[in-house]
Amino acid sequence: MADAAALKEKAGRAALSFVEDGMRLGIGTGSTAEAFIRVLAEKVTTGLRITGVATSKRTAELCGELGVPIVTLDEMPELDLTIDGADEIDADFRLIKGGGGALLREKIVAAASARMVVIADASKCVETLGAFPVPIEVNGFGLTATYIGIRKAAERLGLSGEITMRLAGAEPFITDNGHLILDASFGRIPQAEALSEALHAVPGVVEHGLFLRYASDAVIARSDGVEVRHNRPA
Ligand code: 5RP
Repeated sequence: MADAAALKEKAGRAALSFVEDGMRLGIGTGSTAEAFIRVLAEKVTTGLRITGVATSKRTAELCGELGVPIVTLDEMPELDLTIDGADEIDADFRLIKGGGGALLREKIVAAASARMVVIADASKCVETLGAFPVPIEVNGFGLTATYIGIRKAAERLGLSGEITMRLAGAEPFITDNGHLILDASFGRIPQAEALSEALHAVPGVVEHGLFLRYASDAVIARSDGVEVRHNRPA
């Protein structure tokens, strides 16, 4: 059986088929996105011309090291395509993202893109979202009030479970945007759209990791091949 790194590389390499010369490209965050960046860099070295927008400081740094051209989203606010990883993907192309803490920039970049291709190995495919805790990016001000607001909003939808502040070692994890992340272990989320709306209605919530209408395509790597799925026609 192929190991995890090989599957990520396989997904990244297969995603290259979506990238055309001259494209304005959103570039994701995480280990699968990193595998994609490495194969993309090979193509750039041999002449592929793209202009990238990074979804995190980490991604921007790696692109810089590997010679993948990067501009800011303000310099190039409309993109042809974003390629990014996910923590979970269901049959309706709904995602949980943010395991790497970059969900806010990832969502802004995906929203600015005509298409979003999700790259993952088959372990990320689920029937119902929620085994992976939903990352929720929150403002540090009034953290406890925001926490209570999230808990009550979830309870109204019949969801409960631990909500923990993400740490980096002994300190709170701070996002690229200077916010905190609460990881909500709700378990199965049958009404993801309702939860998304309810979380957005809590004032201290900056953004959450439910990506419900973004993915246009998915590239799923398995040990015996790569499956490409389309949510909408190209
Ligand atoms: C980062 C993300 C990542 O795309 C997601 O966590 C998947 O990461 P990996 O490819 O390392 O499993 O959303 O915020």
